[in-house]
Amino acid sequence: MQLFERIAPLRAALKAHRLAGETIGVVPTMGYLHAGHLKLVERAVAESDRVVVTIFVNPTQFGPNEDLDAYPRDLESDLKQLADFPVDCVFAPPVDEMYGRPMQAFVDVKPLGDILIGEVRPGHFRGVATVVTKLFNIVQPDRAYFGEKDYQQLTIIRRMVADLEMPIEIVAVPTVREADGLALSSRNVRLSPKDRAASTVLSAALDEGERLVTMGERDPHVVLSTMRALIEAEPRAGLQSLDLRDAATLDAIDRISDRPVALLVTANFGEVLLIDQRVAARKSRSAQTGECP
Ligand code: PAF
Repeated sequence: MQLFERIAPLRAALKAHRLAGETIGVVPTMGYLHAGHLKLVERAVAESDRVVVTIFVNPTQFGPNEDLDAYPRDLESDLKQLADFPVDCVFAPPVDEMYGRPMQAFVDVKPLGDILIGEVRPGHFRGVATVVTKLFNIVQPDRAYFGEKDYQQLTIIRRMVADLEMPIEIVAVPTVREADGLALSSRNVRLSPKDRAASTVLSAALDEGERLVTMGERDPHVVLSTMRALIEAEPRAGLQSLDLRDAATLDAIDRISDRPVALLVTANFGEVLLIDQRVAARKSRSAQTGECP
């Protein structure tokens, strides 16, 4: 595993692999790796000849009131964890390598990037789409791996790649969870023991929302009010947002059809904002009743 801090030597190394006909998979991260990231790496290693993991805390996706400096970093531990996998390159550039001059070109996916999380974090997804485009241009991967947990980010990147004809397959990797259902996140370590215990209400509410959708509930309000009641019954949970959207477009819907829907939730536990999601689709009537079709 080779560590690169500069673009030019990474490009040179990858060019040799590309010329040898090898496929390249990239796993973009902001570091502070946990088992969720390692699942992405595992999948990339299984599917691509060469794997690049990028570690870069991207300043342009943090708003002026968001604490970029407080974002956890531990490159030494990240490298140690990656050493257990046949990862070829780690790209961990300093900020001046990625943003060495004032930027004039940005990638903005609109209106997808302005809704939901984009409404409360204006500019966040412009920063994400721009840095991911830069990383794609640097690595020129065949495949790129993203977690389903950040579902809006995943949807935006899929849309960006489609609209801009980027020749990259976006691979969505299911959310990794603790045994009690909590989705893995770098933020979980900041939860107090009581908030950690309470945080399982999110996956429990998603389970219930999924159950209603799969059993054929058509009214989004019924699904959302059931989930809301469950979350609000937990006094430590500060519900920030709860949405049911078309899973492919994130459009709001009046009625649940046979298309998959995304259930999206964000909630505060103390100071920590947790985000979770579930994609659900109505089961066929025979699957609902257990009868033969
Ligand atoms: O999901 C993340 O860790 C970041 O948003 C990403 C995709 C690496 C871009 O900085």
